[in-house]
Amino acid sequence: MSRAAGELGGVRASPNIWAHPEIYEWENLAFDRHRRIEETIGALRPYAEAHLLDIGCGTGFHLPHFAERGARVVGVEPHPPLARLARARLARTHHPATPPASLAPDPPDPGGRSPDAPDAPDADGGSLSCAGRCGGRSPDDAATPDPGTTDADGPGAGSPSATPRPEHSHRPTVVVAAAQALPLADASVDIVHARWAYFFGPGCEPGLREIARVARPGAVAVIVDNDATTSTFGAWFARFHPAYDPVAVERFWRRAGFSRIPLTLAWECRSEAEFAQVVGIEFAPDAAAAILAEHPGPSVDYAVNLWWRRF
Ligand SMILES: C[S@@+](CC[C@H](N)C(=O)[O-])C[C@H]1O[C@@H](n2cnc3c(N)ncnc32)[C@H](O)[C@@H]1O
Repeated sequence: MSRAAGELGGVRASPNIWAHPEIYEWENLAFDRHRRIEETIGALRPYAEAHLLDIGCGTGFHLPHFAERGARVVGVEPHPPLARLARARLARTHHPATPPASLAPDPPDPGGRSPDAPDAPDADGGSLSCAGRCGGRSPDDAATPDPGTTDADGPGAGSPSATPRPEHSHRPTVVVAAAQALPLADASVDIVHARWAYFFGPGCEPGLREIARVARPGAVAVIVDNDATTSTFGAWFARFHPAYDPVAVERFWRRAGFSRIPLTLAWECRSEAEFAQVVGIEFAPDAAAAILAEHPGPSVDYAVNLWWRRF
C-alpha cells in the first residue's frame, strides 16, 4: 500500500477495523482462543499491578483480558470512533467474553456491516485495499499524529503540558492518542503491548522512541505481528502482499534490540460464513475469493511473531 493510501497524518489507516469493527470483533474472538499470547507476555513480566499500555487498542478487545490478569491498563487509540467503542466496552463490563452492544458477535450477516457499527473514517476508509491485519503498512512513517485525530477528552485537546495524563488505575481507561506521542509520563509503564498496530518494522521509529521514554527500567514491550514465513495464513499473506519483506522486518526488530518468539496459533471461527467475512476484511476481494475457493472450513493455522525487549 502506498504511503498516501496507508496513512492519514501519521495514523495508519486500518480499513479492516475502521470500516468493519463488528467483523473485526469476530476475528479477535476467533484468534488465539487459548490466550497463548497473553500467557507468553505474562511469563516475560507478571501482570499483577503492572502498569500496562496497549498502543492502538482499537475497540479495546484486549483491555479487559489484561485487567482480569491484574494489570492496570491504559489503552491509546488514535481513531476516535474506535476509542469510543473501547470506552463503551469498558463501561459495559470488564468481562472479556462480553463485547459492547454495538459489537455483539451475532452470526454473520451476508449483508456485511451491522447498522449500528461506527462509520468508516471518511470516503476513502472503506475503499482502501487491505494489507492484512496491519490494515496499512507503509515503508517509512515518520509523520506526527494528526491533531484532527484527537478527541475533546484526549491528550490532543490541549498542549501536552496542560493536559492531565491518564492514570494507570484498577479501572482501565482509553485515551485518543497515537504511538508517536504517547500521553504518559516518562518511566511510567511496565508492559507495552501493540498488536497489529503501527509497529510493522521500518518506519515505526518515532513510536519506538516513545516506548523507550515511557518504559520503566525492567519494563517489557511486546509487538505482535504476522509471521509471513510459515503457516497457512502466513503463506496467504506472503502471496498477496509480495512487497512485504520478512527478512527486512526481522533485521529491523533485531537492530532495535527486540527478540522473536514465534507462535503458531489459529483463527477458529464459528462457521464458514463467519470465516469468509473475516477473510473478506483482511484481503482484497480477488485474494479473498481465491483463498476461500481453495480453503474449506471455518479455521486456519496462523503464525505470528512476538517481538519483545526489556528496558
Ligand atoms: C488492525 S487494528 C488492531 C487493533 C487492536 N490492537 C486489536 O488487536 O484488536 C490497528 C489499530 O491501530 C490503530 N493505529 C493506526 N495508526 C496508529 C498510530 N500511529 N498509533 C497508534 N495506533 C494506531 C488503528 O486506528 C487501529 O485501531
